[in-house]
Amino acid sequence: MITTLPKVELHLHIEGTLEPELIMQLAERNGIRLPYADLDDLRRQYEFTDLQSFLNLYYANLDVLVTEQDFSDLTRAYLKRAQAAGVRHAEIFMDPQAHTSRGIALATCVNGVSQALADSVTEFGISTSLIVTFLRDRPAAEALEVLTELISLDAPIIGIGLDSAEVGHPPIDFVEVFALARAHGLECVAHAGEEGPPEYVWQALDLLKVSRIDHGIRSLEDDALVDYLVQNEIPLTVCPFSNVRLRVVDRLEDHPLPAMLARGLLVTINSDDPAYFGSYLDDNFRGLQQTFGLDAPAMAALSRNAVQAAFLADAERAPLL
Ligand code: ADE
Ligand code: ZN
Repeated sequence: MITTLPKVELHLHIEGTLEPELIMQLAERNGIRLPYADLDDLRRQYEFTDLQSFLNLYYANLDVLVTEQDFSDLTRAYLKRAQAAGVRHAEIFMDPQAHTSRGIALATCVNGVSQALADSVTEFGISTSLIVTFLRDRPAAEALEVLTELISLDAPIIGIGLDSAEVGHPPIDFVEVFALARAHGLECVAHAGEEGPPEYVWQALDLLKVSRIDHGIRSLEDDALVDYLVQNEIPLTVCPFSNVRLRVVDRLEDHPLPAMLARGLLVTINSDDPAYFGSYLDDNFRGLQQTFGLDAPAMAALSRNAVQAAFLADAERAPLL
């Protein structure tokens, strides 16, 4: 039932799909020395205490991605796994600054990922779009430069987002970046309320004018915010296993998903960084089913929420329902 449920993934970092085996293969191919003795040693690093402890490993492992081929191999591997999970449409995040900051050309990462995405419908039966996410713990001026270059390259992106270390890096710092994106007709989303306070969710809505919030689970701490999100049908792209592995919640049993649904929030289920959290989209759905006893209609409703929340024309939504 879980794998046949048609699914839409709206919160997936392509860099977070880099599996340990592929890290080892790409290191070999590119002649890169890794600071791990072997695959088992690498696997032992996947214990996280918070968002930053995960980001440290996530960024370090990116050193193995060098060529366009590396980026397209990474993307194809994700699409193959997503197909097995029953994903029919995916709006994929990529962090360009995680690559340009280590000397990789913007065109290399964008072209590599988008070449694989271009074949996705025919190869895997998955429609896709690309959203570039800016690193909030780097200067906003750098994000503005990268966005300007993406626009001048006419990069095949539908939108922008904001991610990386949240606390101490409020959305207000990125007002100019998001204004430029909106002026160019790009969709806007932002991570907010993952580790950061409800105030960051308000800022993302009021100042960045985003149409979806990534995570947003701390919104529950602010009743007025919950009312606003419900009334305006603002989708939240929730990532249950990510929240457990990054210790935002202790156990899946403690996840606020049931409370979010009870409040009438437009919740979608997503995998975030499945290679790091050991859970792709089907695993997240299965975990919720087992932990909260969600029945088939409840699971189908979550899938429909994602279809509603996707950046698609109405005619493109119909086949996903
Ligand atoms: N980058 C990749 N995964 C992330 C997450 N869960 N939160 C913030 N930045 C991220
Ligand atoms: Zn994320």
